[in-house]
Amino acid sequence: MQKIKEQISQDLAAAKTPDAVEQVRIAYLGRKGIVTTLAKDTDFSKMTPEEKKSFGARLNDLKTFVEESIAQAKETAMSAGAVKKSTGLDLTLPGSDRRLGSLHPISLIQMELETIFQGMGFMVVPSLECELEYYNFDAVNIPADHPAREMQDTYWMTNGMLMRTHTSANQVRCMERFGVPLKAIFPGRCFRNEAQDPSHENTFYQCEGLMVDENISVANLIAVMKTLLSELFHRDVTVRLRPGFFPFVEPGFELDLQCLFCSGGGCTTCHGTGWMELIPCGLVHPNVLKCGGVDTSKYSGFAFGIGLTRLAMMKYGIPDIRLLNASDVRFNEQFPVFL
Ligand code: DAH
Repeated sequence: MQKIKEQISQDLAAAKTPDAVEQVRIAYLGRKGIVTTLAKDTDFSKMTPEEKKSFGARLNDLKTFVEESIAQAKETAMSAGAVKKSTGLDLTLPGSDRRLGSLHPISLIQMELETIFQGMGFMVVPSLECELEYYNFDAVNIPADHPAREMQDTYWMTNGMLMRTHTSANQVRCMERFGVPLKAIFPGRCFRNEAQDPSHENTFYQCEGLMVDENISVANLIAVMKTLLSELFHRDVTVRLRPGFFPFVEPGFELDLQCLFCSGGGCTTCHGTGWMELIPCGLVHPNVLKCGGVDTSKYSGFAFGIGLTRLAMMKYGIPDIRLLNASDVRFNEQFPVFL
């Protein structure tokens, strides 16, 4: 009996699941189990009354021991299983906080511009941030003595290249690469060696556009700009052109948008004028077309340079330019994850 006790203790220690414990129970207490057989096969008739008494008592003691050991093992095995299950799925736990990031308003505006222009048949062309002096200046009709070339405006690299001061630097590259007719935009970062203040950054984002084809006129420019702004602001917009000077366009314009807040009546946002200066643009200067290898007797084109910061601020009602680069999560979180 002592051996049986030792044996069952060992067997139960090895039985880790309720099923395994049940197998042990059958092996000891089942119909042909060790304990059952021991009780059945004992011939009590050959025992003296004292022997019967003590054997019977020890047999009962063994049974109780076996039963209790099995009950305990079963409980242990079951609670181990329950713990295991709860790590897999506990419906009472609160949901995990999966926070999605959000896109920066400048990225959102850029993506939206790309979508709108692609809808008008423009291709989106990747462009270089680090440029040759030729493409940033000479090729876009900015002569060597132009003030924009002065050291304080441009970040020069030690290898003689520069950080592009405007996305117009990609105009001639684009004409060289794709030829004409051409409809393309190229968004990206630009750099100017300027003192930073609440409305000036030394790094900013532009989206340049260029369309060259036969018979391109100011009417085409206005149509494309109106379509762009109507889609961006989800309403009909009124625009006007004022003369503006940029070396790479002739004629050059400042395209103004009738103030979306006061519809032209005059308010603080438009400084009482009813208009907001928004997009510099013009018809591509023949010198620029020639640098791009374009036959100017056959082709003409328009170009524009959209500042993304101003546009994002207007579209999202952002009152202070510094919010855009402050990396304040309370600000950034307010913008959607997707368009
Ligand atoms: N490149 C000019 C700037 O950075 C913006 C610009 C003006 C682009 C007129 C153009 C344009 O394409 O036609 O200030």
